[in-house]
Amino acid sequence: MRHPGSMGGASWSMEDIPYAELARERVRDDRRLFYLLASASFIEITSDLYTQNLVEYFRHDREIAEWLERVWQKEEVQHGAALRRYVETAWPDFNWEAAYRDFLAAYAPLCTVDQLAATRALEMAARCVVETGTATFYRMLSERTREPVLKQLAARISADEVRHYKHFYRWFLRYQAIERPSRASVLRTLWNRAAEIDAEDAFFAFKAVFLARNPDANFRKEDYDAYRKAIVQLARHHYPYGMMVKMLLKPLGLNAVVSRLMLPAIASALRFLTRHTARDSGALTSRL
Ligand SMILES: [Fe+2]
Ligand SMILES: [Fe+2]
Repeated sequence: MRHPGSMGGASWSMEDIPYAELARERVRDDRRLFYLLASASFIEITSDLYTQNLVEYFRHDREIAEWLERVWQKEEVQHGAALRRYVETAWPDFNWEAAYRDFLAAYAPLCTVDQLAATRALEMAARCVVETGTATFYRMLSERTREPVLKQLAARISADEVRHYKHFYRWFLRYQAIERPSRASVLRTLWNRAAEIDAEDAFFAFKAVFLARNPDANFRKEDYDAYRKAIVQLARHHYPYGMMVKMLLKPLGLNAVVSRLMLPAIASALRFLTRHTARDSGALTSRL
């Protein structure tokens, strides 16, 4: 198990979150929210397991490697630990530890090799996509929920993800100047990484949570599909697509007119919460 106590880097810590004030009656019957948060806690808390290759990839660049190891990984793991405490406070009968063990047993063997983009500039562009996905996801949660502790926690995590994005974007520009990737290859990278979001980790996280919640049930693919449908419903009205598209277009360096013309097409293409199921996509992992 990891140790949520040894954090650092983030501008907040779990002690800042007033878990004792959690308005349980506002969330305890929200099944969709329970699955979302429990799954997110699994994926975030496992971040350092599958980011080691990325650190190695940038080992020659001391500023980046140090930040990845000392700040970024720790903050992602803290997201998981903070979400875990939220889930355990809101749904105390859920055995987080046991379900996480099952998730890790199924998922860890699949994520030993981190898929990296062909060049460092393109990998930085891909990282921008991942952080865009998480920043917008937590923004949606924060704006949507009526539960004040979750509102605060999700806003803090979203702010972290936006900050991560800014770092990756800055380093994208650094490597773009060196490697000069074509706009088409950047677009392809953005596109491919966005399609990978919501891949196997989301599926295995849901499955582990489901089986912990329903120990006598047989897990069926339809259970995951139903959950995904419920998320689509949530995203349809509340997903900050504008924020997502703006963040995604930045690495393309398009001028304002072209960007505006492309917004609707890209927004609909990248509705990653509404895309593939895990089995359809065949993609490796998504990273919260
Ligand atoms: Fe995160
Ligand atoms: Fe992040």
